[in-house]
Amino acid sequence: MGKVIPLSKDEIRKMELVCKLAARSLEYIGTFVKAGITTQELDQIVYDHTLSLGCEPACLGYHGYPKTICSSVNNIICHGLPDGTKLKNGDIINLDITHKKDGFFGDCSATFFVGEVSQKAKDVTQAALEARNLGIEMLRPGLTTGDIGFAIDKFITRKGFTTVKEIGGHGIGRKFHDEPFVPSYGKKGRGDILVPWTCLTVEPMVNEGSASIKEVDIPNSSIKYYETTDGKLSAQFEHTLLITDSGYQILTLP
Ligand code: MF3
Ligand code: CO
Ligand code: CO
Repeated sequence: MGKVIPLSKDEIRKMELVCKLAARSLEYIGTFVKAGITTQELDQIVYDHTLSLGCEPACLGYHGYPKTICSSVNNIICHGLPDGTKLKNGDIINLDITHKKDGFFGDCSATFFVGEVSQKAKDVTQAALEARNLGIEMLRPGLTTGDIGFAIDKFITRKGFTTVKEIGGHGIGRKFHDEPFVPSYGKKGRGDILVPWTCLTVEPMVNEGSASIKEVDIPNSSIKYYETTDGKLSAQFEHTLLITDSGYQILTLP
């Protein structure tokens, strides 16, 4: 890994603000998740909310990505493109929101239920939430990205689910996607060492069935979206975190 440069006090304050505002938009859009609404309508609501908070929608135009949010329904793993599809009772949907303000990025996501969902949907979603939180518990200077991935994958495997290996968390701050890569699998002590006063995301993607993924092109964009190859469910939660001198601070809290 190249050198990651610690943030100054002023830069940390900027990260705290943009991350809080991204979390507010995520909390807000959650209240609109209901059968009958389209993912395009959710996208428009977040676009307006983002501007009302004095932020820029970071995904819009990012490597040609055409929307404000990523909306990943059921078997879509991540980067799902908002469109005219209506949500229906029993769906699960991950909504992923990234704001930019004063040159800094805040990135968070959550999986929501549409009406009453199956027990399997509840289980895979709960596992993704707990895995994300266990990964976060590993954040402190001296531990590594491998320690995070190991904790996540061990937990998910014991639950009988699988983690996506090709995509994961990332350094974030002055750039949307920076080093290090934060995998959802790994070996203790391997990977990149965590550096105090830098930020990263923890965002495991958890599949109900096979871990294998199918890449799908987005027109006029180098961003791909991903779905499960077996058509089964995938769930995800994401926070942006600051590594402190002794542990971590969750930045994407409303
Ligand atoms: N928010 C996503 C992440 O967690 C990235 C989305 S990039 C986009 O890293 F272009 F697809 F929006
Ligand atoms: Co992210
Ligand atoms: Co995200």
